[in-house]
Amino acid sequence: MSRDRWNNRLVFVLAAVGSAAGLGNAWCFPYVCATNGGGAFLIPYFVALITAGIPVLILEFVIGHKFQGGAPTSLANFGKAGEILGWFATFISFVIVTYYSVIMAWVFDYLWYSFSIAWEGDSGGFFFGSILKLTDGPWELGGFSIPVLIGLVLTWISIYLTIKDGVHTVGKVVKWTVGLPVLLLFILAVSGMTLEGAMDGINYYLTPDFSKLTDFKVWTAAFGQIFFSLSVGFGVMIAYSSYLDKKSDITNNAFMTALANSGVSFLAGFAIFSTLGYMAASTGSTVAEVSTAGVGLAFVVYPEAISLLPFGAIGQTIFALGFFIALLTLGIDSAFSLVEGTSTAISDKFDFNRKKTTVGVILIGFVVSLVYATKGGLYWLDIVDRYINNFGILVVGFIEILVIARLMKVNNVREYINEVSDIKLGKWYTILLGIASPVILGIVLVMTAYTEIM
Ligand code: PFF
Repeated sequence: MSRDRWNNRLVFVLAAVGSAAGLGNAWCFPYVCATNGGGAFLIPYFVALITAGIPVLILEFVIGHKFQGGAPTSLANFGKAGEILGWFATFISFVIVTYYSVIMAWVFDYLWYSFSIAWEGDSGGFFFGSILKLTDGPWELGGFSIPVLIGLVLTWISIYLTIKDGVHTVGKVVKWTVGLPVLLLFILAVSGMTLEGAMDGINYYLTPDFSKLTDFKVWTAAFGQIFFSLSVGFGVMIAYSSYLDKKSDITNNAFMTALANSGVSFLAGFAIFSTLGYMAASTGSTVAEVSTAGVGLAFVVYPEAISLLPFGAIGQTIFALGFFIALLTLGIDSAFSLVEGTSTAISDKFDFNRKKTTVGVILIGFVVSLVYATKGGLYWLDIVDRYINNFGILVVGFIEILVIARLMKVNNVREYINEVSDIKLGKWYTILLGIASPVILGIVLVMTAYTEIM
């Protein structure tokens, strides 16, 4: 049977941007940036993007484009160890979608609660108590949280409806799931900037604190953020580019993906921190005091800020809906790319029917994700995220750059790219891919391992 193909170049780029721009942009980036040196964080961020993110993205596009298969099948061209690397990446993407879907489930819940601003007055108690029904520790799983369960069912049904017919029909969805969140975040950012105190929020977000640059945690945070955000190291971009026609461009597509992805992150930062600036001003606190880490930012602090906005009940609901629809549309195409990466890997390797494989992955994914819908689920989500996500993807990216690029002969990779691409890569690319990237990624990997162990 002939391989599925993207309808056209735009659809591929939109799908790649859709995969890259997700919850990581709107929910992690602003906070990671603000707490790791603000504007100064942009230095390690761009260093990570140029020395590791874009080279690995281009390499993954090359691998999928050249070998026309999911990660394990493509990497099997480099022997058994290559195939194992492909399965490892696929495993990571599967694990991630099992908890990514849970965060999407919370978003579905918040869409519903936005109509009444149900968290008003106690957004922390509402999230951890009424929605998650959180227990005291990971071992006290204690039954299911019904709101999370309902959200999960809706999430997995949405994933199924989007990819049930393969990449061929994804185009219809990605136009919306890429365009709409950008528009919404733009509106939220512009209206947020009109609020009193907005500039304090933006200052907190972007004022450079150069002293942070000597802390290597800031550097590992930047590399982790770039890998997760660009969806590299998961085999997903290999799977996506395997549906490209042999004549398709590589570099231009990769640059567009990376540029759009970073743009969404910055925009989200403006939307969130302008509103948090208002919240700080209206409660007589500083922006640092009102901001919290991790899940709290999108599901506790930002909702609370919305409930303080001077726009009346309807205005607040519109604002809340804008934010959660942006999160939903950002997240859904990232979630289905993770499923697509997994099912492409399996169906290519075992020659299984694509549609049935996708349904199988969705069903198993749903069952596994139920763990996080239990009342102790958040603890598990934290544990899995910390170990699988942070470290695993850097390992995959590092091996791809160090071993696979070398086996493909770095110079041949460049020639392969230049033959099909609009933007031609000069000799500098050989040096980057052959020397600079592996050295830098190696150092970051050691630093990350050290941070995780200490
Ligand atoms: N890049 C997505 C985000 O920033 O939310 C998450 C993600 C999607 C990671 C797909 C990896 C992936 F393969």
